[in-house]
Amino acid sequence: MPNNEEFVVTPYEVRGRVDYDRLRELFGTQPLTEELLARLKRLAGGELHPLLTRGIYYSHRDLASLLDGFEAGRRFFLYSGRGPSGPLHTSHLSQFELCLWFQKRLGLPMYIQITDDEKFWARSGLSREETLRWGLENLYDILAVGFDPKLTHVFFDSKSIASLYPLAIRVARKIPYSTVKAVFGFEPATNIGLVFYTALQTVPCFWPSWAEGTSIPCLIPCGIDQDPHFRLTRDIAEGLGYPKPALLHSRMIPGLLGEAAMSTTGSSADNALFLNDPPKVVERKVRNAFTGGRATVEEQRRLGAVPEICSVWALWRSRFAETEEKFAEITEGCRSGALLCGECKGQLLERIHAFYKEHDAARTRVKEWAETTIVTAAPKEL
Ligand code: TRP
Repeated sequence: MPNNEEFVVTPYEVRGRVDYDRLRELFGTQPLTEELLARLKRLAGGELHPLLTRGIYYSHRDLASLLDGFEAGRRFFLYSGRGPSGPLHTSHLSQFELCLWFQKRLGLPMYIQITDDEKFWARSGLSREETLRWGLENLYDILAVGFDPKLTHVFFDSKSIASLYPLAIRVARKIPYSTVKAVFGFEPATNIGLVFYTALQTVPCFWPSWAEGTSIPCLIPCGIDQDPHFRLTRDIAEGLGYPKPALLHSRMIPGLLGEAAMSTTGSSADNALFLNDPPKVVERKVRNAFTGGRATVEEQRRLGAVPEICSVWALWRSRFAETEEKFAEITEGCRSGALLCGECKGQLLERIHAFYKEHDAARTRVKEWAETTIVTAAPKEL
């Protein structure tokens, strides 16, 4: 990222007020157009997921050709992942919810990567015990979204390394150190684990093709901060005889304190709603959240509030408004001044508490089979 931009987005850092259109230009990705969305809607045979219609997913690479292939009978698989640095927060589930939508609508296999190695290398404050424990805890949360156990596979890096390594060997030889250094901004003190790591994030893109001995395209729904990894993947794919993965990129969901992303790295735990926060903590965080409200009730009634800068509106937008009607009602109420922030937060809290209850129950149900989804064996060597 050039230094004269006012924001920074890499897989290891999101900082500043991100101009997402500018970021798309800098990364050289394609806009997710109405036309593509309409096509996806036709293929999926029903309504699009709100993450698509509300502009949270806004960019892509090669989605059109992936859909061309699908229409011609070429099935693809889904891939997404999580670096287990702590408990998940609500916005971490979004990419998996979009994957679930694809899995259900199109009957597609899903591969999930849990990178307990990456987070140990990236965060000096984390112990191995912690990244292992969070890896498993995060996996329960991810599977609780509702994936079909028969179609869903997990690479838990430290437990799946024997299945990943034969392909990682091939991938790593194609990636020059100078590229990794430039793409991720690594410095002389960066540990060599992180230098190698990107090879492991690439492996799942090719793994099903390798395992089945035939070329199977891949679609990766992810935050746009992960794009640098997959630019590398795409550069080397054809040289290894695999299709380039297609990507669907989301904006980062803003933090509750008005920060660029709902991240907790270097900021207060109050910036995010963790899935393991007890109801009282959720209540406090939402009540203290940064809004687009005015200084006084009188002013808000007169001028209306500003949803675009509001972290509470961002939560409605990303998941808690389940229907388009509800989302429009909240947005218009906010803009017109009819809905005050306290009342809006109260309504949102009801939705959040209900969601946490459902999620906890689903999480308990998946625990039994979660570990059976972890891939441990490699396909036979080529
Ligand atoms: N690097 C990601 C993170 O820090 C984890 C990850 C691995 C991932 N594979 C992925 C994310 C594929 C999106 C898509 O969270």
